[in-house]
Amino acid sequence: MGTNLFTTPPLSLYIHIPWCVEKCPYCDFNSHALKSKIPEQDYVSALIADLDDDIARFNLKNRPLHSIFIGGGTPSLFSANAIESLLSQVLSRFEYGSSQNKLYKQKNIEITLEANPGTVEADKFIGFVKAGVTRLSIGVQSFESEKLLKLGRIHNVSQAQQAAKMATNAKSFGLKSFNLDLMHGLPNQSIENALDDLKTAISLKPDHLSWYQLTIEPNTAFHSKPPKLPQDETLWDIQDQGFKLLADAGYKQYEISAFSQAEKQCQHNLNYWQFGDYLGIGCGAHGKITDVSTGIIQRTIKVKHPKGYLDTNRKPLDHLITVNHKELPFEYMMNQLRLFSPFTLANYQRRTGLSIDTILPTLQLAKQKNLMSCTEIISSEEKWQVTPLGHRYLNDLLELFL
Ligand SMILES: C[S@@+](CC[C@H](N)C(=O)[O-])C[C@H]1O[C@@H](n2cnc3c(N)ncnc32)[C@H](O)[C@@H]1O
Ligand code: SF4
Repeated sequence: MGTNLFTTPPLSLYIHIPWCVEKCPYCDFNSHALKSKIPEQDYVSALIADLDDDIARFNLKNRPLHSIFIGGGTPSLFSANAIESLLSQVLSRFEYGSSQNKLYKQKNIEITLEANPGTVEADKFIGFVKAGVTRLSIGVQSFESEKLLKLGRIHNVSQAQQAAKMATNAKSFGLKSFNLDLMHGLPNQSIENALDDLKTAISLKPDHLSWYQLTIEPNTAFHSKPPKLPQDETLWDIQDQGFKLLADAGYKQYEISAFSQAEKQCQHNLNYWQFGDYLGIGCGAHGKITDVSTGIIQRTIKVKHPKGYLDTNRKPLDHLITVNHKELPFEYMMNQLRLFSPFTLANYQRRTGLSIDTILPTLQLAKQKNLMSCTEIISSEEKWQVTPLGHRYLNDLLELFL
Protein backbone atom coordinates (compact mmCIF):
# COMPACT_ATOMS: atom_id res chain seq x y z
CA MET A 1 0.00 0.00 0.00
CA GLY A 2 1.54 3.32 -1.00
CA THR A 3 -0.30 5.96 0.99
CA ASN A 4 2.05 8.62 -0.43
CA LEU A 5 0.28 8.14 -3.77
CA PHE A 6 -2.91 9.76 -2.43
CA THR A 7 -3.97 13.34 -2.99
CA THR A 8 -6.95 14.85 -1.19
CA PRO A 9 -10.04 14.47 -3.42
CA PRO A 10 -12.70 17.17 -3.87
CA LEU A 11 -15.31 17.07 -1.08
CA SER A 12 -19.03 17.10 -1.92
CA LEU A 13 -22.02 17.09 0.41
CA TYR A 14 -25.22 15.08 -0.11
CA ILE A 15 -28.26 16.07 1.97
CA HIS A 16 -31.18 13.62 2.04
CA ILE A 17 -34.81 14.72 2.50
CA PRO A 18 -36.84 11.55 3.09
CA TRP A 19 -40.48 12.59 2.51
CA CYS A 20 -42.76 12.43 -0.55
CA VAL A 21 -46.46 13.14 -1.06
CA GLU A 22 -46.98 9.51 -2.18
CA LYS A 23 -44.66 6.54 -2.59
CA CYS A 24 -44.21 5.71 -6.31
CA PRO A 25 -44.61 1.96 -7.06
CA TYR A 26 -41.17 1.63 -8.76
CA CYS A 27 -39.10 3.56 -6.19
CA ASP A 28 -36.67 1.90 -3.78
CA PHE A 29 -35.09 5.12 -2.51
CA ASN A 30 -35.36 5.91 1.20
CA SER A 31 -38.57 7.91 0.92
CA HIS A 32 -41.74 7.85 3.00
CA ALA A 33 -45.26 9.02 2.15
CA LEU A 34 -46.09 12.05 4.26
CA LYS A 35 -48.66 11.34 6.96
CA SER A 36 -48.58 14.75 8.62
CA LYS A 37 -46.77 18.09 8.34
CA ILE A 38 -42.99 17.88 7.73
CA PRO A 39 -41.03 18.71 10.91
CA GLU A 40 -38.91 21.16 8.89
CA GLN A 41 -37.14 22.97 11.71
CA ASP A 42 -36.36 19.82 13.67
CA TYR A 43 -35.04 18.14 10.55
CA VAL A 44 -32.78 21.08 9.66
CA SER A 45 -31.42 21.06 13.23
CA ALA A 46 -30.82 17.30 13.01
CA LEU A 47 -29.01 17.72 9.66
CA ILE A 48 -26.70 20.38 11.09
CA ALA A 49 -25.94 18.27 14.19
CA ASP A 50 -25.20 15.35 11.83
CA LEU A 51 -22.88 17.55 9.74
CA ASP A 52 -21.05 18.82 12.83
CA ASP A 53 -20.47 15.22 13.95
CA ASP A 54 -18.96 14.36 10.54
CA ILE A 55 -16.78 17.48 10.46
CA ALA A 56 -15.37 16.63 13.91
CA ARG A 57 -15.02 12.89 13.15
CA PHE A 58 -13.05 13.48 9.95
CA ASN A 59 -11.41 16.78 10.90
CA LEU A 60 -12.84 18.58 7.86
CA LYS A 61 -12.82 22.19 9.05
CA ASN A 62 -10.30 23.37 6.48
CA ARG A 63 -11.50 21.42 3.48
CA PRO A 64 -13.39 23.51 0.93
CA LEU A 65 -16.71 22.23 -0.40
CA HIS A 66 -16.89 21.25 -4.06
CA SER A 67 -20.68 20.86 -4.44
CA ILE A 68 -23.94 20.26 -2.58
CA PHE A 69 -26.85 18.05 -3.68
CA ILE A 70 -30.18 18.17 -1.83
CA GLY A 71 -31.94 14.99 -2.92
CA GLY A 72 -34.73 12.73 -1.85
CA GLY A 73 -37.45 11.99 -1.46
CA THR A 74 -38.91 15.33 -2.44
CA PRO A 75 -36.79 18.27 -1.22
CA SER A 76 -39.12 20.74 -2.96
CA LEU A 77 -41.70 19.97 -0.23
CA PHE A 78 -39.50 22.11 2.03
CA SER A 79 -40.15 25.86 2.20
CA ALA A 80 -37.61 28.24 0.68
CA ASN A 81 -37.04 29.59 4.22
CA ALA A 82 -36.06 26.14 5.50
CA ILE A 83 -33.65 25.64 2.56
CA GLU A 84 -32.14 29.08 3.18
CA SER A 85 -31.64 28.26 6.89
CA LEU A 86 -30.11 24.89 5.99
CA LEU A 87 -27.72 26.26 3.33
CA SER A 88 -26.54 29.25 5.33
CA GLN A 89 -25.69 26.99 8.29
CA VAL A 90 -23.96 24.43 6.06
CA LEU A 91 -21.92 27.00 4.15
CA SER A 92 -20.81 28.85 7.28
CA ARG A 93 -19.04 25.64 8.33
CA PHE A 94 -16.73 25.41 5.31
CA GLU A 95 -13.96 27.51 3.88
CA TYR A 96 -16.15 29.01 1.19
CA GLY A 97 -18.94 29.53 3.62
CA SER A 98 -18.77 33.16 4.58
CA SER A 99 -22.48 33.84 4.83
CA GLN A 100 -21.93 37.61 5.20
CA ASN A 101 -20.49 38.19 1.75
CA LYS A 102 -21.75 35.03 0.00
CA LEU A 103 -18.20 34.12 -0.98
CA TYR A 104 -19.38 30.64 -1.94
CA LYS A 105 -21.26 32.07 -4.87
CA GLN A 106 -18.10 33.59 -6.31
CA LYS A 107 -16.43 30.21 -5.95
CA ASN A 108 -19.15 28.80 -8.18
CA ILE A 109 -20.15 25.92 -5.98
CA GLU A 110 -22.90 23.94 -7.64
CA ILE A 111 -25.89 23.54 -5.29
CA THR A 112 -28.58 21.24 -6.72
CA LEU A 113 -32.08 20.71 -5.35
CA GLU A 114 -34.43 17.96 -6.57
CA ALA A 115 -37.95 19.19 -7.25
CA ASN A 116 -41.15 17.34 -8.12
CA PRO A 117 -43.75 18.97 -10.37
CA GLY A 118 -46.94 19.24 -8.35
CA THR A 119 -45.08 20.44 -5.24
CA VAL A 120 -43.93 23.80 -6.57
CA GLU A 121 -46.03 26.88 -7.04
CA ALA A 122 -44.98 29.89 -9.12
CA ASP A 123 -42.45 31.64 -6.87
CA LYS A 124 -40.98 28.65 -5.00
CA PHE A 125 -38.08 28.11 -7.41
CA ILE A 126 -37.13 31.78 -7.10
CA GLY A 127 -37.12 31.36 -3.30
CA PHE A 128 -34.80 28.34 -3.62
CA VAL A 129 -32.47 30.33 -5.89
CA LYS A 130 -32.38 33.22 -3.42
CA ALA A 131 -31.49 30.66 -0.73
CA GLY A 132 -28.38 29.67 -2.76
CA VAL A 133 -29.60 26.88 -5.07
CA THR A 134 -27.82 27.12 -8.46
CA ARG A 135 -29.23 24.02 -10.17
CA LEU A 136 -32.69 22.42 -10.16
CA SER A 137 -33.36 18.79 -11.03
CA ILE A 138 -37.00 18.24 -11.93
CA GLY A 139 -38.50 14.73 -11.79
CA VAL A 140 -40.75 14.63 -14.84
CA GLN A 141 -40.47 10.89 -15.77
CA SER A 142 -42.87 11.12 -18.76
CA PHE A 143 -45.00 13.61 -20.67
CA GLU A 144 -47.81 11.11 -21.26
CA SER A 145 -50.82 11.17 -18.91
CA GLU A 146 -51.39 7.42 -19.02
CA LYS A 147 -47.72 6.70 -18.14
CA LEU A 148 -47.71 9.22 -15.27
CA LEU A 149 -50.78 7.53 -13.80
CA LYS A 150 -49.25 4.08 -14.15
CA LEU A 151 -46.08 5.35 -12.43
CA GLY A 152 -48.18 6.67 -9.53
CA ARG A 153 -46.94 10.22 -10.04
CA ILE A 154 -48.82 13.02 -8.31
CA HIS A 155 -48.40 15.48 -11.21
CA ASN A 156 -49.94 15.82 -14.68
CA VAL A 157 -48.38 16.72 -18.02
CA SER A 158 -49.12 20.44 -17.82
CA GLN A 159 -47.59 20.67 -14.31
CA ALA A 160 -44.42 19.02 -15.66
CA GLN A 161 -44.20 21.55 -18.50
CA GLN A 162 -45.01 24.37 -16.10
CA ALA A 163 -42.17 23.33 -13.77
CA ALA A 164 -39.65 23.42 -16.65
CA LYS A 165 -40.89 26.89 -17.63
CA MET A 166 -40.60 28.10 -14.03
CA ALA A 167 -37.02 26.83 -13.93
CA THR A 168 -36.25 28.72 -17.17
CA ASN A 169 -37.75 31.82 -15.58
CA ALA A 170 -35.65 31.31 -12.41
CA LYS A 171 -32.53 31.75 -14.57
CA SER A 172 -33.12 35.50 -14.57
CA PHE A 173 -32.86 35.31 -10.74
CA GLY A 174 -29.49 33.52 -10.82
CA LEU A 175 -30.28 29.85 -11.47
CA LYS A 176 -27.37 28.49 -13.54
CA SER A 177 -28.97 25.39 -15.02
CA PHE A 178 -31.73 22.84 -14.70
CA ASN A 179 -32.09 19.13 -15.34
CA LEU A 180 -35.11 17.05 -16.29
CA ASP A 181 -35.32 13.43 -15.08
CA LEU A 182 -37.07 11.17 -17.60
CA MET A 183 -37.54 7.42 -17.59
CA HIS A 184 -37.95 5.07 -20.54
CA GLY A 185 -38.84 1.41 -21.00
CA LEU A 186 -42.13 2.21 -19.24
CA PRO A 187 -45.10 -0.20 -19.09
CA ASN A 188 -46.62 -0.55 -22.59
CA GLN A 189 -44.26 2.09 -24.00
CA SER A 190 -43.64 1.99 -27.76
CA ILE A 191 -40.50 3.37 -29.43
CA GLU A 192 -42.59 6.34 -30.67
CA ASN A 193 -43.95 7.06 -27.14
CA ALA A 194 -40.43 7.09 -25.70
CA LEU A 195 -39.06 9.32 -28.45
CA ASP A 196 -42.04 11.70 -28.12
CA ASP A 197 -41.24 12.08 -24.42
CA LEU A 198 -37.64 12.94 -25.28
CA LYS A 199 -38.71 15.41 -28.00
CA THR A 200 -41.02 17.22 -25.56
CA ALA A 201 -38.24 17.33 -22.97
CA ILE A 202 -35.77 18.75 -25.53
CA SER A 203 -38.32 21.40 -26.60
CA LEU A 204 -38.27 22.72 -23.00
CA LYS A 205 -34.53 23.42 -23.38
CA PRO A 206 -33.11 21.89 -20.18
CA ASP A 207 -29.32 22.26 -19.76
CA HIS A 208 -29.12 18.63 -18.67
CA LEU A 209 -31.21 15.50 -19.18
CA SER A 210 -31.09 12.34 -17.07
CA TRP A 211 -32.65 9.52 -19.10
CA TYR A 212 -33.05 6.36 -17.01
CA GLN A 213 -34.31 2.99 -18.11
CA LEU A 214 -37.00 1.85 -15.66
CA THR A 215 -35.72 -1.00 -13.49
CA ILE A 216 -37.87 -3.20 -11.28
CA GLU A 217 -36.32 -3.11 -7.81
CA PRO A 218 -36.90 -5.53 -4.91
CA ASN A 219 -39.18 -4.22 -2.14
CA THR A 220 -41.28 -2.07 -4.46
CA ALA A 221 -44.94 -2.37 -5.45
CA PHE A 222 -43.88 -3.06 -9.07
CA HIS A 223 -41.76 -5.97 -7.83
CA SER A 224 -44.71 -7.62 -6.10
CA LYS A 225 -47.02 -6.97 -9.04
CA PRO A 226 -44.82 -6.49 -12.15
CA PRO A 227 -46.24 -4.39 -14.99
CA LYS A 228 -45.79 -5.48 -18.61
CA LEU A 229 -42.56 -3.92 -19.84
CA PRO A 230 -41.39 -3.55 -23.49
CA GLN A 231 -39.44 -6.46 -25.05
CA ASP A 232 -35.64 -6.32 -24.98
CA GLU A 233 -35.52 -5.57 -28.71
CA THR A 234 -37.78 -2.53 -28.25
CA LEU A 235 -35.63 -1.39 -25.32
CA TRP A 236 -32.47 -1.49 -27.47
CA ASP A 237 -34.24 0.44 -30.26
CA ILE A 238 -35.49 3.06 -27.80
CA GLN A 239 -31.93 3.51 -26.55
CA ASP A 240 -30.26 3.65 -29.96
CA GLN A 241 -32.77 6.09 -31.42
CA GLY A 242 -32.96 8.12 -28.18
CA PHE A 243 -29.17 8.54 -28.07
CA LYS A 244 -29.24 9.83 -31.63
CA LEU A 245 -32.06 12.27 -30.93
CA LEU A 246 -30.22 13.64 -27.90
CA ALA A 247 -26.92 13.97 -29.76
CA ASP A 248 -28.64 15.78 -32.67
CA ALA A 249 -30.12 18.24 -30.15
CA GLY A 250 -26.63 18.99 -28.75
CA TYR A 251 -26.83 16.84 -25.59
CA LYS A 252 -23.55 15.03 -25.06
CA GLN A 253 -23.70 11.74 -23.20
CA TYR A 254 -21.06 11.81 -20.46
CA GLU A 255 -22.40 8.98 -18.30
CA ILE A 256 -24.70 5.97 -18.82
CA SER A 257 -27.87 8.02 -18.16
CA ALA A 258 -26.60 11.63 -18.16
CA PHE A 259 -26.66 14.04 -21.12
CA SER A 260 -25.71 17.69 -21.06
CA GLN A 261 -25.20 20.79 -23.08
CA ALA A 262 -21.57 22.03 -23.17
CA GLU A 263 -20.16 22.80 -19.70
CA LYS A 264 -23.40 21.78 -17.97
CA GLN A 265 -22.45 18.38 -16.55
CA CYS A 266 -23.52 17.77 -12.97
CA GLN A 267 -20.35 18.52 -10.98
CA HIS A 268 -21.68 16.74 -7.91
CA ASN A 269 -22.38 13.45 -9.66
CA LEU A 270 -19.11 13.70 -11.60
CA ASN A 271 -17.29 13.83 -8.28
CA TYR A 272 -18.96 10.54 -7.21
CA TRP A 273 -18.07 8.86 -10.47
CA GLN A 274 -14.46 10.09 -10.35
CA PHE A 275 -14.17 8.53 -6.89
CA GLY A 276 -14.13 11.83 -5.04
CA ASP A 277 -15.09 12.27 -1.38
CA TYR A 278 -18.56 13.13 -0.08
CA LEU A 279 -20.34 13.57 3.19
CA GLY A 280 -23.86 12.19 3.38
CA ILE A 281 -26.19 13.74 5.94
CA GLY A 282 -29.85 12.96 6.53
CA CYS A 283 -31.87 9.74 6.84
CA GLY A 284 -29.99 6.75 5.41
CA ALA A 285 -27.41 8.96 3.63
CA HIS A 286 -24.08 7.43 2.59
CA GLY A 287 -20.67 9.15 2.74
CA LYS A 288 -17.08 8.34 1.73
CA ILE A 289 -14.06 10.13 3.17
CA THR A 290 -10.34 9.68 2.43
CA ASP A 291 -7.69 10.44 5.05
CA VAL A 292 -4.55 10.94 2.99
CA SER A 293 -2.30 11.02 6.06
CA THR A 294 -3.25 7.47 7.10
CA GLY A 295 -4.27 6.14 3.69
CA ILE A 296 -7.64 5.05 5.08
CA ILE A 297 -10.94 5.40 3.21
CA GLN A 298 -14.07 5.22 5.35
CA ARG A 299 -17.75 4.98 4.55
CA THR A 300 -20.60 6.29 6.68
CA ILE A 301 -24.27 5.29 6.71
CA LYS A 302 -26.75 7.32 8.71
CA VAL A 303 -29.86 6.17 10.63
CA LYS A 304 -32.43 5.31 8.01
CA HIS A 305 -35.88 5.98 9.44
CA PRO A 306 -36.99 9.59 10.06
CA LYS A 307 -38.27 8.69 13.55
CA GLY A 308 -34.88 7.33 14.64
CA TYR A 309 -32.95 10.08 12.86
CA LEU A 310 -35.00 12.80 14.58
CA ASP A 311 -34.54 11.21 18.01
CA THR A 312 -32.20 13.66 19.76
CA ASN A 313 -31.10 10.92 22.17
CA ARG A 314 -29.65 8.96 19.28
CA LYS A 315 -26.51 9.64 17.25
CA PRO A 316 -27.12 10.00 13.48
CA LEU A 317 -24.28 7.62 12.53
CA ASP A 318 -25.46 4.04 12.05
CA HIS A 319 -22.40 2.43 10.40
CA LEU A 320 -18.76 3.45 10.00
CA ILE A 321 -16.93 1.12 7.63
CA THR A 322 -13.25 1.10 6.73
CA VAL A 323 -12.88 0.11 3.08
CA ASN A 324 -10.64 -2.91 2.60
CA HIS A 325 -7.84 -2.08 0.14
CA LYS A 326 -8.62 -5.25 -1.80
CA GLU A 327 -12.05 -3.80 -2.68
CA LEU A 328 -10.69 -0.51 -4.00
CA PRO A 329 -9.90 -1.48 -7.64
CA PHE A 330 -13.49 -2.73 -8.09
CA GLU A 331 -15.02 0.24 -6.26
CA TYR A 332 -12.98 2.71 -8.32
CA MET A 333 -13.91 1.02 -11.59
CA MET A 334 -17.58 0.66 -10.68
CA ASN A 335 -17.79 4.45 -10.55
CA GLN A 336 -15.29 5.42 -13.23
CA LEU A 337 -16.64 3.01 -15.85
CA ARG A 338 -19.99 4.82 -15.85
CA LEU A 339 -18.24 7.78 -17.48
CA PHE A 340 -17.55 8.19 -21.19
CA SER A 341 -14.38 10.24 -20.74
CA PRO A 342 -11.05 8.48 -20.24
CA PHE A 343 -9.19 8.20 -16.94
CA THR A 344 -5.47 8.01 -16.25
CA LEU A 345 -3.63 5.51 -14.11
CA ALA A 346 -2.23 8.51 -12.21
CA ASN A 347 -5.78 9.40 -11.26
CA TYR A 348 -6.37 5.83 -10.08
CA GLN A 349 -3.29 6.11 -7.86
CA ARG A 350 -4.28 9.49 -6.48
CA ARG A 351 -7.80 8.35 -5.54
CA THR A 352 -7.10 4.84 -4.22
CA GLY A 353 -3.53 5.23 -2.92
CA LEU A 354 -2.70 1.94 -4.71
CA SER A 355 0.06 1.31 -7.22
CA ILE A 356 -0.88 0.74 -10.86
CA ASP A 357 0.16 -2.93 -10.59
CA THR A 358 -3.11 -3.54 -8.73
CA ILE A 359 -5.12 -2.76 -11.85
CA LEU A 360 -2.94 -2.87 -14.97
CA PRO A 361 -3.15 -6.66 -15.65
CA THR A 362 -6.97 -6.52 -15.51
CA LEU A 363 -7.08 -3.47 -17.75
CA GLN A 364 -4.89 -5.30 -20.25
CA LEU A 365 -7.20 -8.32 -20.14
CA ALA A 366 -10.20 -6.01 -20.75
CA LYS A 367 -8.32 -4.52 -23.69
CA GLN A 368 -7.73 -7.97 -25.20
CA LYS A 369 -11.48 -8.58 -24.96
CA ASN A 370 -12.10 -5.24 -26.72
CA LEU A 371 -14.02 -3.95 -23.71
CA MET A 372 -11.51 -1.16 -23.00
CA SER A 373 -9.02 0.81 -25.05
CA CYS A 374 -6.00 2.92 -24.17
CA THR A 375 -3.52 5.35 -25.66
CA GLU A 376 -0.24 3.69 -26.57
CA ILE A 377 2.11 5.53 -24.18
CA ILE A 378 3.04 3.29 -21.26
CA SER A 379 3.08 5.67 -18.30
CA SER A 380 0.89 6.63 -15.40
CA GLU A 381 -0.61 9.28 -17.68
CA GLU A 382 -1.84 6.77 -20.26
CA LYS A 383 -5.56 7.15 -20.81
CA TRP A 384 -8.03 4.30 -20.49
CA GLN A 385 -11.56 4.35 -21.84
CA VAL A 386 -14.52 1.97 -22.13
CA THR A 387 -15.26 0.88 -25.71
CA PRO A 388 -18.85 0.84 -27.08
CA LEU A 389 -18.74 -2.97 -26.60
CA GLY A 390 -17.65 -2.43 -22.99
CA HIS A 391 -20.62 -0.14 -22.42
CA ARG A 392 -22.98 -2.75 -23.83
CA TYR A 393 -21.55 -5.47 -21.56
CA LEU A 394 -20.69 -3.27 -18.57
CA ASN A 395 -21.47 -5.92 -15.94
CA ASP A 396 -19.15 -8.45 -17.61
CA LEU A 397 -16.45 -5.81 -17.80
CA LEU A 398 -16.87 -4.90 -14.13
CA GLU A 399 -16.70 -8.51 -13.01
CA LEU A 400 -13.12 -8.66 -14.29
CA PHE A 401 -12.15 -6.25 -11.48
CA LEU A 402 -13.73 -8.31 -8.66
C1 LIG B 1 -35.00 9.22 -6.14
S1 LIG B 1 -35.68 10.10 -7.41
C2 LIG B 1 -35.81 11.64 -6.60
C3 LIG B 1 -36.42 12.70 -7.45
C4 LIG B 1 -37.84 13.04 -7.19
N1 LIG B 1 -38.34 12.59 -5.98
C5 LIG B 1 -38.73 12.48 -8.28
O1 LIG B 1 -39.13 11.34 -8.18
O2 LIG B 1 -39.04 13.22 -9.17
C6 LIG B 1 -34.42 10.37 -8.63
C7 LIG B 1 -34.73 9.82 -9.99
O3 LIG B 1 -34.43 8.46 -10.06
C8 LIG B 1 -35.16 7.87 -11.10
N2 LIG B 1 -35.65 6.57 -10.64
C9 LIG B 1 -36.17 6.26 -9.43
N3 LIG B 1 -36.50 4.94 -9.38
C10 LIG B 1 -36.16 4.40 -10.58
C11 LIG B 1 -36.26 3.09 -11.17
N4 LIG B 1 -36.77 2.05 -10.49
N5 LIG B 1 -35.81 2.92 -12.44
C12 LIG B 1 -35.27 3.95 -13.12
N6 LIG B 1 -35.17 5.20 -12.63
C13 LIG B 1 -35.61 5.44 -11.39
C14 LIG B 1 -36.30 8.82 -11.44
O4 LIG B 1 -36.13 9.36 -12.72
C15 LIG B 1 -36.18 9.90 -10.39
O5 LIG B 1 -36.48 11.16 -10.89
S1 SF4 C 1 -41.41 11.05 -5.70
FE1 SF4 C 1 -39.30 10.39 -6.24
S2 SF4 C 1 -38.35 9.77 -4.32
FE2 SF4 C 1 -40.56 9.99 -3.93
S3 SF4 C 1 -41.34 7.92 -4.13
FE3 SF4 C 1 -41.54 8.90 -6.14
S4 SF4 C 1 -39.60 8.43 -7.26
FE4 SF4 C 1 -39.28 7.96 -5.09
